[in-house]
Amino acid sequence: MSKQHAVSTTAIIACAVSAFCGSASRTLAQPIDPGVRQVATDGGSPQPLPGLTADELAFFQDGLSRFMTVEVVSGASSNEGNGLGPRFNSNQCSSCHIQPYVGGSSPAVNPLIAVATADGATNTIPWFITSNGPIREARFVRSNGVADGSVHALFVITGRADAGSCDISQPDFLPAGDAVTGQGGNSNVVFRIPTPLYGAGLIEAIPDSAILADMNANASAKTRAGVRGHANSVQGGTVNLSANDGTITRFGWKAQNKSLLMFAGEAYNVEMGISNQLFPQERDETPNCQGGNATPNDTSNFSASPATAVLSDIEAFANFIRLLAPPAPAPATASTQNGEAQFKNIGCSLCHTPTLMTGAAVASGSATVPSVALSNQRVDLYSDLLVHHMGTGLADGITQGSAGPDEFRTAPLWGVGQRVYFLHDGRTSDLVQAIEDHASQGSEANQVIQSFNALSARDQQDLINFLRSL
Ligand code: HEC
Ligand code: HEC
Repeated sequence: MSKQHAVSTTAIIACAVSAFCGSASRTLAQPIDPGVRQVATDGGSPQPLPGLTADELAFFQDGLSRFMTVEVVSGASSNEGNGLGPRFNSNQCSSCHIQPYVGGSSPAVNPLIAVATADGATNTIPWFITSNGPIREARFVRSNGVADGSVHALFVITGRADAGSCDISQPDFLPAGDAVTGQGGNSNVVFRIPTPLYGAGLIEAIPDSAILADMNANASAKTRAGVRGHANSVQGGTVNLSANDGTITRFGWKAQNKSLLMFAGEAYNVEMGISNQLFPQERDETPNCQGGNATPNDTSNFSASPATAVLSDIEAFANFIRLLAPPAPAPATASTQNGEAQFKNIGCSLCHTPTLMTGAAVASGSATVPSVALSNQRVDLYSDLLVHHMGTGLADGITQGSAGPDEFRTAPLWGVGQRVYFLHDGRTSDLVQAIEDHASQGSEANQVIQSFNALSARDQQDLINFLRSL
């Protein structure tokens, strides 16, 4: 028996007697994350779902072009490009959703550095935004002594050539911590990185009943492993004005949002300060900072006789995302096949459910109903879409719907092979670290991570290789 095995056995015993199984229980020989998987199509055009009808494809393309529009405060040739700010995180959906091509997540080189001073703006770059770190949006846990939890935009339009006399200040995010990991600074400021959008229309098309059936499956294995999780549905009697129909919400790091249209509307106002028909009021109503634009900035656009309308931007964004193809995994190898088996054996798949199915008859807006591309499709997402207690180490202190301060949606792992940053706040680029960070006091994943640490170095490496193949 090797020395390495002896060490990990001791660690497992220690782990069993204390509830906390941290990195102390790792084996000596450690697996290595080979890094971002490069593919020839990186940086190319995003692919639509296979089998789209001609009308679906036309609306996918329309949404894609609007998703890539660089927004300004005022003076755009069409009304479509106006309304940026007064407060914003970036000026283009695709600036944040871009790795490894449009629709993805945070790229290796941070675009926000240039956005901060675009068009004459005079913003200071917050300490947690670096050129070699992730895009982060910031939430305040508390403000003025009461629970807050909302996003505080990083930048203001002050100084921009198209912003007139607007003169407002950025929020104060100090004191600074470690700029790359985002850890150790002002404990009232917490972060989230962009989630990738590939395949999100398939996720939207999964019936609640399928999520609940998966939640109830493998019950004894989940109980043994300490994995619980609940769907982020609104509890009876709870006042929650953004989700009042009682159905399961599933988008965002805390599964806090119901639909792609809802997320698009929220993102337009929160990330860019562009009010719209789902979020009609400006987040900052300072009068001389509105660029002369009416509110909502984005609307549907009527024409009379016959009464028809051109879609609003938020509808177009949602169409693009809904019809966007899922990530394409790499071909399997002996190593990734063993890694996949280990992933299931040790219980990663108790939360990261490999496959769910979309509903039998899902409509996209196409004249062809139901949509063939969205109906009865496999969704190889590697998520149960439930929120789980992830312990003190990952807790961000924010409650959204029924997702509490240390609860997060099981992050879908499809596409993780081509991701640069991991976990909700982008604290690491190393998959091994991302796995170890699942373990801390109160995490439902503690026993599964203990089992990961007890694997041979070879099996651990195969599991990492499997993740990088996704
Ligand atoms: C400044 C960067 C940034 C910009 C710009 C941005 N996003 Fe995002 N996006 C994020 C972050 C961060 C999250 C995760 C938010 C959360 O969970 O609280 C996210 C999540 C999403 C999601 C949820 C996906 C999922 O499965 O969880 C959708 C949909 C989305 N964004 C759409 C858009 C659209 C549409 C636009 C343009 C209007 C946009 N985003 C612009 C940063 C950005
Ligand atoms: C108890 C449920 C649970 C178990 C068990 C679990 N995970 Fe996770 N996983 C999550 C949640 C929740 C997140 C998001 C946490 C966060 O961002 O704070 C996550 C995030 C991840 C991420 C980062 C993805 C991203 O988008 O940044 C990876 C990689 C990952 N898990 C792999 C694994 C592997 C490998 C295993 C088995 C060793 C495992 N997980 C076991 C719930 C779980």
